[in-house]
Amino acid sequence: MTKKHLSIDYIEYASAGEMEPADQALVAEAIEAEKGSYSPYSHFSVGAALRLEDGTVVRGANQENVAYPSGLCAERTAMFAAGANYPDLAFDTLAIVARDHGVMCEYPASPCGSCRQVMAEYQKKGGRPLRIILIGSKKIRKFGCVDDLLPFIFDSLKAE
Ligand code: THU
Repeated sequence: MTKKHLSIDYIEYASAGEMEPADQALVAEAIEAEKGSYSPYSHFSVGAALRLEDGTVVRGANQENVAYPSGLCAERTAMFAAGANYPDLAFDTLAIVARDHGVMCEYPASPCGSCRQVMAEYQKKGGRPLRIILIGSKKIRKFGCVDDLLPFIFDSLKAE
């Protein structure tokens, strides 16, 4: 028996001003995207901005439904829209932000497990790492690939 330890690297920024310009722009896109949220049931509005390999940005926002499971997270609305409209372009970076009852969350929004699995699929399809930026008003976290948010990923890019 061997006891093992898993650790991940990620970068934490105090504000978007510390980030490289392209990422700052994507953060601004995610903040704009949140305005498209339809979340009358949870009042938790989420925005996502997905940059593709050619620089195109696709926005998403959570869409709720009175039949709760019929709604969809912001991340998946962005990823599915990109998959449907730009099937030949790899995903480069996905930025996510959330507001709770209209107030931007202080700590970075963290995607649900289903969205992480979908990220993994598109990362595999694109054949390159999908970077993820989680935005909060007090700090921003950047991860280099989906594997860092979903360890022991099903069908991972990484070999043992
Ligand atoms: N939500 C997202 O849009 N992304 C996530 O990663 C977590 C949750 C949405 C779903 C629902 O509309 C609301 O936030 C509350 O769960």
